[in-house]
Amino acid sequence: MSLPPLKIGKHTIQYPIIQGGMGVGISWDRLAGSVSKEGGLGVISSVGTGYYENKRYIDKEVAGRPLETANFYSRRALFKIFENARKICGDAPLGCNVLYAINDYGRVVRDSCEAGADIIITGAGLPTNMPEFTKDFPDVALVPIVSSAKALKIICKRWSQRYGRIPDAVIVEGPLSGGHQGFTYEQCFMPEFQLENIVPQVIDEAKKWGDIPVIAAGGIWDHDDIMRFLELGADGVQIGTRFIGTHECDASDNFKRVLVEAKKEDILLLKSPVGYPARGVRTKLIDLVERREGPPIKCISNCVTPCQRGVEAKEVGYCIADRLSDAYRGDRELGLFFSGANGYRLNEIISVKELMRKLIQGE
Ligand SMILES: Cc1cc2nc3c(=O)[nH]c(=O)nc-3n(C[C@H](O)[C@H](O)[C@H](O)COP(=O)(O)O)c2cc1C
Repeated sequence: MSLPPLKIGKHTIQYPIIQGGMGVGISWDRLAGSVSKEGGLGVISSVGTGYYENKRYIDKEVAGRPLETANFYSRRALFKIFENARKICGDAPLGCNVLYAINDYGRVVRDSCEAGADIIITGAGLPTNMPEFTKDFPDVALVPIVSSAKALKIICKRWSQRYGRIPDAVIVEGPLSGGHQGFTYEQCFMPEFQLENIVPQVIDEAKKWGDIPVIAAGGIWDHDDIMRFLELGADGVQIGTRFIGTHECDASDNFKRVLVEAKKEDILLLKSPVGYPARGVRTKLIDLVERREGPPIKCISNCVTPCQRGVEAKEVGYCIADRLSDAYRGDRELGLFFSGANGYRLNEIISVKELMRKLIQGE
């Protein structure tokens, strides 16, 4: 069966495949531009753009780190990333991922609109005021990420009351996904919170509010997985980890190598200063953090609100901005390598074109 297109707001995506936004630096211009060029939705991550092209677009750094929120989420770098992605995908729909938990959320959403995003995707929190920041951009579609029907209900209620609109689509993310989870550690293992069980509930809730396409994410690996979720009633899928196994993925070769070499038992749920469990690969850093011997925590980049300027980082034993950016740059010792539960299945690096062909047609 051929895959149907996916319509989100005013934008039509040829294949119902969204490449999940991955920070720091995993999905920037090359990955997102290439996915959009091949007919999926490429999503640029707005996280840590200060690191783009060796920090050439920022005003100030300290100890090799972008100084403060304005430089960590660099507006100039984000514009450059969009400009370069557009050179690859032209006018095809292009998304931007902006986490709700970041400092300067509203400013970064506005930056993304001005930089040329067609679709903005927000997870890590309930974005109850998201439409506030896109008033001047009526064509920009808004897509929250949720982990339950209840979360979608709260968003729809607030948005319809305050802004007279509902989400243009919703992504349901289950507990096999990479990075931060919308669940407690225990819930991640409970059957009732697995993706196939929460997707139908979110579809039911979405129907109560109108025509909201539902996109399933977390642990989707191949063509058969995509078909399984479309048959369950989803309108599309979001895939993160598998796109790391591409030449165009913006992360360092070392990042890709860590995933290719990872075994099933190396992928685990960690504590994070963001306040949710996060899934990543066991590397030397994890051992250091467990022994409370991780690198010093200085909060130079002031990245996320829940961390409270380093308080939570000290609690869990690492700074998330510094460790994720080190992984992007290929530091196998001190980097934090996020991965979905299926990351150990990555065994080759191929082109985005080839990966899209496999996802669309099967092997
Ligand atoms: C390295 C990595 C970084 C990620 N960073 C983000 C992020 O910044 N924002 C976000 O909403 N999701 C992030 N995610 C989640 C992905 O966008 C995607 O939804 C998820 O990984 C889907 O599950 P899968 O990896 O099993 O396909 C990240 C995932 C990975 C693997």
